[in-house]
Amino acid sequence: MIEVADRVLPVSADVSDSGVLAIGGMPVTELAKEFGTPLYIYDEATLRANMRRYVNALSANYPDALPLYASKAYSDPHVVKIAAEEGMGLDVVSAGEIAVGVAAGFPLDRMYFHGNNKLPEELAYALEAGVGRIVVDNFNEIDLLNTIAGQAGKRAQILLRIGPGVEAHTHDYIKTGALDSKFGFALPIGQAEEAVARAQAAPHLDLIGLHAHIGSQIFDIEPYVDTLDLLIQFAQDMTDKYGLQMTELSPGGGWGIRYTGADDPPPIEDLAETVAVTVKDRMAALGWDLPRLVVEPGRSIVGQAGVGLYAVGSSKTIPDVRKYVAVDGGMADNIRPALYDALYTVLVGNRMHDPAEETVTIAGRYCESGDVLFKDIAMPVLNPGDLIAVPSSGAYCLAMSSNYNLVPRPAVVLVNDGDARLIRRRETLDDLIQPHLDV
Ligand code: LLP
Repeated sequence: MIEVADRVLPVSADVSDSGVLAIGGMPVTELAKEFGTPLYIYDEATLRANMRRYVNALSANYPDALPLYASKAYSDPHVVKIAAEEGMGLDVVSAGEIAVGVAAGFPLDRMYFHGNNKLPEELAYALEAGVGRIVVDNFNEIDLLNTIAGQAGKRAQILLRIGPGVEAHTHDYIKTGALDSKFGFALPIGQAEEAVARAQAAPHLDLIGLHAHIGSQIFDIEPYVDTLDLLIQFAQDMTDKYGLQMTELSPGGGWGIRYTGADDPPPIEDLAETVAVTVKDRMAALGWDLPRLVVEPGRSIVGQAGVGLYAVGSSKTIPDVRKYVAVDGGMADNIRPALYDALYTVLVGNRMHDPAEETVTIAGRYCESGDVLFKDIAMPVLNPGDLIAVPSSGAYCLAMSSNYNLVPRPAVVLVNDGDARLIRRRETLDDLIQPHLDV
């Protein structure tokens, strides 16, 4: 267990002789005492390390590359500020995520606005705020953005999101590059070409590049190379037919991370280097100038940086069937097990050296039978108050959280070098009542 834990925990994690897990120099027992549970702990060292891995591996192999932090994985002004400091750009998908970037003082020219149904007011806000790039997803948006830009007296710098028809091996719900997808202009059936023609004719749009995103939690490099090849071939065709000048190119995000010992994602550097070298090679063969190379990882930046922390409460044994142990969080702060059958490595943060003694199922606290976090896992005999620590929880947990059952969302702390800073306070009952009017 400890061996797997080593490979999923944040880089600063450590275990004391007495078996207490510490992150960023902060024992989880102390964090639980001070901030309560459930608690999400983000490790600044891991965030910065993963960002630097992208920045360094790309810049070592490519002169003009920009890794964006895909803020949908976890949109928080403090994390976004760190992304700005590390020289990253930002992928946003809503006015809310733009507003987080604005609040963090993020350089807006390095912001890319994605989404398959951006609202007119969101597009207007993005242009008004000075968001650098809009990644246009569909025909309706070409017209809408052209009109809004015209009314605002601006030109929008756009990339087109292309559906390349590439199969990536991941969960159906998070697969986006295949033909049957709600995202983007399908390449194999001519919609991508039609989009280029229309965008080139739109007076208030500057079509500067092509984008694709083929899915999430991907471990193979091959689909990225295939995607780049398809995009570049398409660009060549569009240059001949419509005078496209591709100065930016993006194969999206989606690089996978390790959740359990069964996951073996190749290092970030492999992806960065392969993508960079592929584009360089193809451009050299075409005799084209290198476009800016954009990648947009979310999970592989922030996933490993976050650890969920729950306290054990009740338990129930059904002889010869199952033992349930319940924690004080569940599907409203991490819906991934219920939604994707996602698996995690589960640790007892205050008893890291204790051997497993029995098989239990960790259930959440929400009123739904499907609120089971971790099925049939080997654990020491757990007692109320024990701390369940869940590595690889930094991405798409709080980002997809809800107030189901009207439970306040957890607090978030950022740890670094023996310091813990509350970066998001726990929601209160007042927060839940307040939006209801005339009570
Ligand atoms: N770019 C675009 C256009 C995307 O749609 C996404 C993720 C990303 C970048 C970042 O992907 P990442 O590097 O984080 O894999 N809720 C699911 C994941 C949904 C991903 C949505 N799009 C999950 O919990 O696994």
